[in-house]
Amino acid sequence: MDSFPMELKLKDGRLARVSFINKKDDTRGFLIFINKLIGERSCIIYDKKFTLKQEEGWKKTQLEALKKRDGYTLVAKIDGKIAGTSGAKKGAYKERGNVCLGIAIAKEFRGLGLGEALLKLNMRTAKRFFKPRPRNIYLSVFETNKPAYALYKKLGFKEFARLPKWLLHRGEYRDHIFMKYE
Ligand SMILES: CC(C)(COP(=O)(O)OP(=O)(O)OC[C@H]1O[C@@H](n2cnc3c(N)ncnc32)[C@H](O)[C@@H]1OP(=O)(O)O)[C@@H](O)C(=O)NCCC(=O)NCCS
Repeated sequence: MDSFPMELKLKDGRLARVSFINKKDDTRGFLIFINKLIGERSCIIYDKKFTLKQEEGWKKTQLEALKKRDGYTLVAKIDGKIAGTSGAKKGAYKERGNVCLGIAIAKEFRGLGLGEALLKLNMRTAKRFFKPRPRNIYLSVFETNKPAYALYKKLGFKEFARLPKWLLHRGEYRDHIFMKYE
C-alpha cells in the first residue's frame, strides 16, 4: 500500500517526492507552476494567468476539500520544485459516486515517466481515499491533446462521452472528451 510522502523514480534516475497538498507548501511555487502551463497555452481549462491572491484561494479550497475528504491534490516535487500535480475530486450530491482526476507536469519534466507514475498513483489513491469506493473514475481531455489521450488510453481509460466543439482553445472550438477507467 502507498504511504505518503512517497518517491517515484523517473527515467533519468531522478526521484520525485509526492505528498498531499499541505498548508506549508509555498503558494508562489503553485502560482509559477500553473502560470507557466497557462503561458504555454497548454491543453488545460485555464487561459488567464492567476494572481497570488487567487492562488491562495485555490490552495485554501484544496486544503478544505482534503479535510472534508471531497478531494485532494497530489504534489510531486523534484529537488523541492513542483514538477507535477494530480488531483481528484468527488462529484456533488447524486454525482458523488463519480471521481474526476486531473494531471499536469511542468514542461521541463515531461517525457520522463512522471505523468504515468503520478496518474497511476492517483488512481490507486482514489480507490482507497473515497468512501464508499468510487463507482466511476474518469477524466477529461481536449481533442487536440494527443500526449494526454495516449497516456489515459495506456492506463485503461476509455472514451465514453464527447462534447462537440465545446472548448475555445487557441482560437478554435474543440471537442471535450470524457474518458472512464474500465
Ligand atoms: C499529458 C502529460 C501529463 C504527460 O506527462 P509526461 O510525464 O510527459 O508523460 P510520461 O513521460 O509519463 O509518458 C507516459 C505516456 O504518455 C503518453 N505520452 C507522453 N508524451 C507523449 C507525446 N509527446 N506524444 C504522445 N504520447 C505521449 C505516452 O502514452 C507515454 O507512454 P510511452 O512512454 O509508453 O509512450 C503532460 O504532457 C502534461 O502535463 N501536459 C500539459 C498539461 C496537460 O495537458 N495535462 C492534461 C490535461 S487533460
